[in-house]
Amino acid sequence: MISLRIDGRLIKAEEGERVLQIAIREGIDIPHLCYHEAFEEPYGSCRLCIVELKEGGSSRITTSCTLMAREGMEIKTDTPEVIKHRKLLLELYLAQAPLSNNIKKLAERYGIKGTRFHKTLNLEDPLGGKCILCGLCIRACREIIKASAIGYIGRGEATRINTPFLEENPDCIGCGSCANICPTEAISFEDRDKRRIMRSWSNTQVNLKICKLCGHPFTPEPLWLKVKEKSTYTPSEEIEEVCPNCRIKIVSKRLVKPYSL
Ligand code: SF4
Ligand code: FES
Repeated sequence: MISLRIDGRLIKAEEGERVLQIAIREGIDIPHLCYHEAFEEPYGSCRLCIVELKEGGSSRITTSCTLMAREGMEIKTDTPEVIKHRKLLLELYLAQAPLSNNIKKLAERYGIKGTRFHKTLNLEDPLGGKCILCGLCIRACREIIKASAIGYIGRGEATRINTPFLEENPDCIGCGSCANICPTEAISFEDRDKRRIMRSWSNTQVNLKICKLCGHPFTPEPLWLKVKEKSTYTPSEEIEEVCPNCRIKIVSKRLVKPYSL
């Protein structure tokens, strides 16, 4: 174990832990967008998690999600310099993602209501005006779901995220992990007529699995098959292909035996 100080608080941490991880664990607020605990390696693209590091008689501003904790480090999360940089970043994000409520809320926390920057938005892109290109959706799809259905396309100013060649991609299993992990809530999908339509991913469609008892769709079929294939648990025939609501009814009927005199 090592000791470091964050905003004056003495904190014990494991060697190799990142400063942002420690701060989250300790309930210390450092705004961040591209960090997610699901990934071991931080990406370090949004820069919003910057802090001031004092060590060996000098100080510098650095990103806390990439910073490995070391014995004796002193971290300050809200010096005037840190706040100044963070506000500038938020202004840039407001220019890039003005349609994201999460970005607006974050900016408002720092008293920012408008931006001095201008970015031409591509509103034909389903993520236009909402995506900050943090890459979390791509990583979730590739590293967690192992589907690699989406990626960066285009270059420079025109960089965006979608399926290859903007075509429906059969590799997408419709799990929605990308939408769940997106810090700006940029990704949309809808369930309609027993199909999941990934609006943001070139309208890729997958079938929804239908509950054999109530007839309601309850999960994307390719996701259901993937979980079944990977799982070591074999459900009884009675509850297989049954939605969570019907499963609960079956299990509670089993548990609550009729009261007999
Ligand atoms: S869609 Fe969301 S998760 Fe994906 S890169 Fe854009 S902001 Fe990040
Ligand atoms: S959370 Fe650290 S750079 Fe994005």
